[in-house]
Amino acid sequence: MSKHWTLDDIPWDAFDATKVDPDLLRIAKAASMVERNANDYAIYLCNIFHDDSEFQEAARTWAQEEEQHGEALRRWAELADSSFDFKKSFRRFTDGFQIPVESLLSVRGSRTGELISRCVVEVGTSSYYSALADASEEPVLKAICRNIAGDEFRHYKLFYTHMKRYYPKDRLNVLKRLRIALGRIIESEDDELSFAYFCANDEREPYVRKKSSAEYLQRAYRHYRLRHLERAVAMTMKAATIRLSDRNVQRLAKGAHRLLRWRLRRIAA
Ligand SMILES: [Fe+2]
Ligand SMILES: [Fe+2]
Repeated sequence: MSKHWTLDDIPWDAFDATKVDPDLLRIAKAASMVERNANDYAIYLCNIFHDDSEFQEAARTWAQEEEQHGEALRRWAELADSSFDFKKSFRRFTDGFQIPVESLLSVRGSRTGELISRCVVEVGTSSYYSALADASEEPVLKAICRNIAGDEFRHYKLFYTHMKRYYPKDRLNVLKRLRIALGRIIESEDDELSFAYFCANDEREPYVRKKSSAEYLQRAYRHYRLRHLERAVAMTMKAATIRLSDRNVQRLAKGAHRLLRWRLRRIAA
């Protein structure tokens, strides 16, 4: 499978420095590093699915696309801020953050669980980049985020398709599926992004997780609109193979939106 776009498809000439939002710049730098690190996840996934060459191939292509997200965001961040030293920041990031790639068993307990959690990650990224694309006034960042969001929706579909293959074998009950999905959502406030945010934006050691996390989440959460969450809720429930009516999806999305607003206020306080 080939990539759906390349860096040459980005309208770099349209870059408008006067429209760069400094807060979006800071989170774009953090995202560029997390995306760039995808190869480690591909190694991890290839170990978990060691006898499934079809999935392994898909995982390798997936990682190349994620790395391209990192490259596009990096180039944009360098355009917007010539002092941004990606290599230095990325080294800081990879020195301090490593995922256990050697394991042969998913940290989620089963392959279905692993794939549900991969789906949830793509729910997170697809809604995040959709929200950033809508929020960005700067045309190049907008175009990049739109392209990335398109990939993330396709990634979700990819992991979902493979999850369906394993689903009858692993037979996870509804509580387990829900726990994995919700657990992964809660984890998304974890160390990786706030540490990347710190490495890209903060020269001062040491890393104080609570502080960087608050700075990061404040800048990220404010861009979510109800429509982004409606789609995210529907996709998350589908990944956990839980059927919900449209009305209940809307209710949950409204609840999630309120929760985000509440988190934002708490973090600000
Ligand atoms: Fe990505
Ligand atoms: Fe993705």
